[in-house]
Amino acid sequence: MENRQYGRSGLRLSALSLGAMTMGESNGFMKGVVSDDAESRRVLDAALDAGIHTVDTANVYSEGRSEELLGRWMQGKREKVTLLTKCRFPTVGVTGKMRANEVGASRASIIWNCEQSLKRLGTDFIDLYQIHMQEGAVPVEETLRALDDLQRAGKIRYAGCSNYTGYRLTESLWAADKRNLSRYEGIQLQWSLVCRDAEREMIPAARTFGLGTLVWSPLGRGFLSGKYEKGAPPPAGSRLEAWKDSFAAVATEQNWKTLEAVRAVAKRHETTPSAVSLAWLLGKSEVSSIIVGARSLAQLQENLRALEVKLTDEDRKELESVSKPAWGYPYEFIGGREPW
Ligand SMILES: NC(=O)c1ccc[n+]([C@@H]2O[C@H](COP(=O)([O-])OP(=O)(O)OC[C@H]3O[C@@H](n4cnc5c(N)ncnc54)[C@H](OP(=O)(O)O)[C@@H]3O)[C@@H](O)[C@H]2O)c1
Repeated sequence: MENRQYGRSGLRLSALSLGAMTMGESNGFMKGVVSDDAESRRVLDAALDAGIHTVDTANVYSEGRSEELLGRWMQGKREKVTLLTKCRFPTVGVTGKMRANEVGASRASIIWNCEQSLKRLGTDFIDLYQIHMQEGAVPVEETLRALDDLQRAGKIRYAGCSNYTGYRLTESLWAADKRNLSRYEGIQLQWSLVCRDAEREMIPAARTFGLGTLVWSPLGRGFLSGKYEKGAPPPAGSRLEAWKDSFAAVATEQNWKTLEAVRAVAKRHETTPSAVSLAWLLGKSEVSSIIVGARSLAQLQENLRALEVKLTDEDRKELESVSKPAWGYPYEFIGGREPW
């Protein structure tokens, strides 16, 4: 497995990471679309054997039970794992209430949540701690100061963010520089052939500021695996059967055409749509690691085939022209003259 640098930091991530959002029994937003604990452990073991040493979780996944499961699994092998988690959302999700200072990107919440995550994960440090989404009500300096303190206390090695707007990310980088605080070394963002919005601001920002990028939902929540068919109901038990709104949002005319192109490229390479979709991302120099979501061992094994696929320039052009979004202003204004 290739290792890639997380932006300009010294942290090295496996080019494929494993997402733990489908791990731990969930009564919240992942209810009914997770794996049982035995399958999760099989997926984790197989991923590690394949060289996937980077694992991404969050306090909110399965209301803390994803972190607990990882903590049990890591016993005796903590040093083999590059451990990523997040805070910001309420750990109990929609299943209960939390106190005001146990949620959000404030100093109080970040420090409390980090302690809770460390307990659930059964470790004394987190390799990369990420703010799950920006919070407009909290000054960026406060968030950064809390992360800086956690870093100096040895509880986290690096800090990153996820689901930030361009202006808020830039404001955070600027504040870190001005106040000599540890900065976000990278951003976790949604990116796939059915969601290319990150290419407007986030990917150019990553190039400009030397930020790492971790990609989430690289298969568009499973749409790009090829198991969904136009005009047919989603397969029983699949995530997009359970998440009707997400299916309606992704099942657009353009995305079905994109899937058709993915299937055609997969046929030429004698591989699967999942492998082609992940290989398209692996070929992007800005990508530090793709967080693969695998609900079963079979899905993991299929997704690992991405490592064998070498897309040609022609393949990439075909995939990118069919999946190109309407970039809007000012991107189209600039893009007609030079890359933005
Ligand atoms: N920062 C954030 O806000 C954020 C948000 C979302 C995710 N994430 C991270 O990113 C990780 C990956 O996200 P994701 O799970 O949405 O990724 P994804 O790869 O887009 O979707 C994964 C889902 O697609 C289906 N699937 C995957 N491989 C398949 C295959 N080969 N054949 C058929 N179906 C397949 C499975 O669902 P079914 O079998 O149930 O259909 C699986 O759970 C998460 O675990 C989490 O760590 C972060």
